[in-house]
Amino acid sequence: MSSRSDGPLYDGLVLGATLATLDGDRGYGEIADAALAWRDGRLAYVGARSDLPGAPQDLAAKVVQAGGWITPGLVDCHTHLVFAGDRAREFELRLQGASYEDIARAGGGIVSSVRATREASGAELLRQSLPRARALLGDGATTLEIKSGYGLDLENERKMLRTARAIGRELGIHVRTTYLAAHALPPEYAGRSDDYIDAVCAWMPRLHEEGLIDAVDAFCEGIGFSPAQTRRVFETARALGLPVKLHADQLSDLGGGALAAAFDGLSADHVEHTSLDSVRAMAEHGTVAVLLPGAFHVLRETKLPPLDAFREHGVAMAVATDCNPGTSPLLSLRQAMQLACSHFRLTPEEALRGATVHAARALGCADRGVLRVGAQADFVQWDIGHPAELCYWLGGRLARRVYAAGVLVEG
Ligand code: NIG
Ligand code: FE
Repeated sequence: MSSRSDGPLYDGLVLGATLATLDGDRGYGEIADAALAWRDGRLAYVGARSDLPGAPQDLAAKVVQAGGWITPGLVDCHTHLVFAGDRAREFELRLQGASYEDIARAGGGIVSSVRATREASGAELLRQSLPRARALLGDGATTLEIKSGYGLDLENERKMLRTARAIGRELGIHVRTTYLAAHALPPEYAGRSDDYIDAVCAWMPRLHEEGLIDAVDAFCEGIGFSPAQTRRVFETARALGLPVKLHADQLSDLGGGALAAAFDGLSADHVEHTSLDSVRAMAEHGTVAVLLPGAFHVLRETKLPPLDAFREHGVAMAVATDCNPGTSPLLSLRQAMQLACSHFRLTPEEALRGATVHAARALGCADRGVLRVGAQADFVQWDIGHPAELCYWLGGRLARRVYAAGVLVEG
């Protein structure tokens, strides 16, 4: 709380909705006919309207009457939404039989987005990327993680990370940036992947000094980088005090889950091919499993992540869009939740936790993804009769009002 002593107790107060607080380990944390108040961007009252410590009009500068349900602001903890161009043509080729790996090996795939992203100015990159962030916000996402990884040189990685920060400022939402220079081998390093990893490690402290990196990621895969190379990137991150996460075990099992866990990684993402040993290591180190059903769906994958093992071992599961031009051109986290239910058989409650409180953990942000006094005042009022509807409708518009740090940013 600030030292403000005069004026009403709260900056704002919403009355009458049902809350899904997600506070506690089980259930939605439902509170009917609730009141939700905030001050200085943080939640200051979460509870029944009848327990409010006074008359609403005396308590808050602004009082809003609401119906429906209020959930925490959604947290999209894995996106690549800053890029130029698109890969719709590649999608067409894949439907004619080419695989994601075939296309990558033939110089398409990620590297074609690298070409377009390098050619775009910072202003152009922002112009193309902003509508994607806006779409995610419109469907309830108040925190977005955005990765670099289509620049693959110092100047263009910097351009991407700055663009990500600019999106946060422009929309008034929280953007967490992840340095993913170890995403693909740029053409100028062909045949010299170890040299490229040296460069990735050399750029990291410079971009970190500029305040552009919140976490570090790598693509550990046959068509990406080896576990040994990933380890070098992670050691550099650790020396700088930066947390790590990993594109792990998406197309094959390279022990990515265990590797992320060995560095106390925030998350291992994709995880379709993750082994039981990795699941155990993730449980031990509190590494979140980030499920990306959009990529699974678009690539028409069939290998399911080890969902029961995650549940049995108590590995928290998050759900994210993986919004990217190649494998997951997905512009709604709610749609990702829907896909997580239909493809991975998550319950709607697991999917909602996955897109809020568990996603916040995957970003190392303990202060959001839950409606609790002291948490960020990020929340969404939805026009729904039950939270399962968030995972039930395909498409459509359910978010009525979206607040970030107590400010109405949508609606
Ligand atoms: O998470 N797997 C690597 N990275 C992205 C795909 C990026 C791309 O194809 O442009 C992913 O699926
Ligand atoms: Fe990804």
